[in-house]
Amino acid sequence: MKAAYFRNTGGPECIEVGQIPSPVLDNNTVLVEIHAVSVNPIDTYIRNGANFWPLPNPYVIGSDFAGRIVQVGAHVRDWRVGQRVWGSNQGLMGRQGTFAEQAVIDPVWLYASPDSLSDQDLAANALVGITAHLGLFDRARLKPGETIFVRGGTGGVGAMVLQMAKAVGAKVVTTAGSEEKAERCRQLGADRVILYREESLSEVLLSEFPQGVDVFWETLREPDFDLGVRAMAPNGRMVVMAGRDARPEFPVGPFYVKGCSVLGFAMFNASPEVQRQAAEDINHWMQTGKLRAQIDRILPLDQAAQAHRLQESNTISKSGVLQGKIVLQIEHPTGT
Ligand SMILES: NC(=O)c1ccc[n+]([C@@H]2O[C@H](COP(=O)([O-])OP(=O)(O)OC[C@H]3O[C@@H](n4cnc5c(N)ncnc54)[C@H](OP(=O)(O)O)[C@@H]3O)[C@@H](O)[C@H]2O)c1
Repeated sequence: MKAAYFRNTGGPECIEVGQIPSPVLDNNTVLVEIHAVSVNPIDTYIRNGANFWPLPNPYVIGSDFAGRIVQVGAHVRDWRVGQRVWGSNQGLMGRQGTFAEQAVIDPVWLYASPDSLSDQDLAANALVGITAHLGLFDRARLKPGETIFVRGGTGGVGAMVLQMAKAVGAKVVTTAGSEEKAERCRQLGADRVILYREESLSEVLLSEFPQGVDVFWETLREPDFDLGVRAMAPNGRMVVMAGRDARPEFPVGPFYVKGCSVLGFAMFNASPEVQRQAAEDINHWMQTGKLRAQIDRILPLDQAAQAHRLQESNTISKSGVLQGKIVLQIEHPTGT
């Protein structure tokens, strides 16, 4: 089958697109014909060797997928051939990835695709949607009427956090690097968008929200605890989920006197059951128009290396080149 893969970690150029043996399912797995996948920052960390799971060789890149079941293992009960499915959490913890014509998937990571939703949209929302759900509801326990600040309202995770917070009746404050991105945030329901290149983020947060925000979601790889603790309300919760090597300063006194918490998590550690709850809400909110996929561009599988370059430029170099997700469409010789 055709796949995007690497044999040795390195720069984006280590990704090859070519033929590798098709995966073979066992009694407890299903074979999925992959139609759309999306790129996440973690794909680039695995590729450059920063994550240290043992990898299959060749290692097919990618976590997210949407497609159609073409074969079902003998012991698999609840899934049938022809069913449209989506999911995430592949390519992680030593599992094989998804940027290929086919992937063998353990059904614990499969979710039914609603008829009305496209494979591109489902793939785009997979990992980032599950991440946002875990952080908002499993960790920060966001409640209706609360105020949340999330950095980067058009970012992969940020756009999901923004929309899910609105879906449950929270007030959302976010940032954008351009007026065009700010307008997108407003369309997604943001109550206040701070143009962080033109306005002082701390001044706006402290002057316009003097009572403090209940949840401060930091998406940057250098979490700003000084700002987070100042901007939070008493008993505020700060979500931290990026920046493995970061060693930021931490204002201990104000933090504990205010009774704040810092909540960290990595989506790949969440159980299949918890991730399924997230997937069910994602399906529901996407069907009801409350959670819209933010796709910056759709590329062919052949451009997998270029997709990694773009993602790194956006997430690591902060170039602002993306306004949403990079989706790759996988064509099949049969035309499916
Ligand atoms: N722990 C987990 O489970 C988990 C899961 C998913 C992702 N992550 C991590 O979360 C991070 C974000 O992922 P992502 O997929 O959302 O990345 P992304 O799509 O590249 O988004 C990055 C965001 O950061 C914003 N940004 C960059 N520089 C900024 C600055 N100086 N001030 C304010 N905003 C700034 C960008 O906004 P503008 O374009 O407006 O500048 C953009 O919205 C990554 O490090 C990723 O590895 C962790």
